[in-house]
Amino acid sequence: MKHALKDKTVVVIGGSSGMGLAVAKKSLLSGARVVIASRSRDKLKAAAAQIGGDVHWQVADTTDEASVSDLFERLGAVDHLVIPGSSVKTGTLRDMPLAEGLYTMQSKFWGPYLCAKYARINPEGSITLFSGILSRRPGRNDTVLASVNAAVEAMGRALAKDLAPVRVNVISPGMTAGTGAYLKMPESAREEMFTAIARRLPAGRVGRPEDIADAALMLMANGFITGIVLDVDGGGLIA
Ligand SMILES: NC(=O)c1ccc[n+]([C@@H]2O[C@H](COP(=O)([O-])OP(=O)(O)OC[C@H]3O[C@@H](n4cnc5c(N)ncnc54)[C@H](OP(=O)(O)O)[C@@H]3O)[C@@H](O)[C@H]2O)c1
Repeated sequence: MKHALKDKTVVVIGGSSGMGLAVAKKSLLSGARVVIASRSRDKLKAAAAQIGGDVHWQVADTTDEASVSDLFERLGAVDHLVIPGSSVKTGTLRDMPLAEGLYTMQSKFWGPYLCAKYARINPEGSITLFSGILSRRPGRNDTVLASVNAAVEAMGRALAKDLAPVRVNVISPGMTAGTGAYLKMPESAREEMFTAIARRLPAGRVGRPEDIADAALMLMANGFITGIVLDVDGGGLIA
């Protein structure tokens, strides 16, 4: 499996931050041709500079069907598509406007759906979707995100049949530091939250983007895994 990604094309939607950035870095180190895509040109440029090697970038917004279809038209056939890119809104059942729930579904479910619809993946290639631990361990005020994550997991299983022999899998991350997810929180509150969660987890720490990237590279490389949800959560589901 060591050279499985050599000279393969890996496209990372959401490759400018967090888990996607880590997937892009590790794929490049494994000898892949890497394309990162997201909405912000500035973020993509900064990420490409940080990655350092011969990484390509494309502006694309998965909430816009024309943008997704243009992206894959430009890219042509690719080997692996990894889709951590999404943005979500959270809030209480009573107070969150429906439009924000619909936005979350649009970004995290229909975005990857459109990518699967328009991407041309070579037969030995794969798609990796991203859900999250909340699908099966929701906390309070997680109704929308828990439901969207569960929908992504169901989509992964169904696409694995529709797109076979292309393999389709889902990574369900647990709480992961070093991503864009918690940047709106004050730093001290964020670190306190990570410490409190780490105490409860069997792994004794929260995730790092590299943990998730290692799982994504394994799913791309292993030709006999399809239709699964891989929990990369430090034991969060059993905690
Ligand atoms: N971090 C966690 O603790 C955690 C836990 C469970 C599940 N997850 C899931 O894991 C995945 C990755 O999370 P992360 O925390 O690594 O994310 P992140 O650091 O916030 O990065 C999100 C990436 O997606 C891009 N993006 C957002 N909306 C997009 C759109 N409509 N079209 C194209 N690109 C878009 C962003 O760039 P632009 O702003 O330039 O578009 C950015 O590159 C997400 O699906 C997230 O829900 C995360």
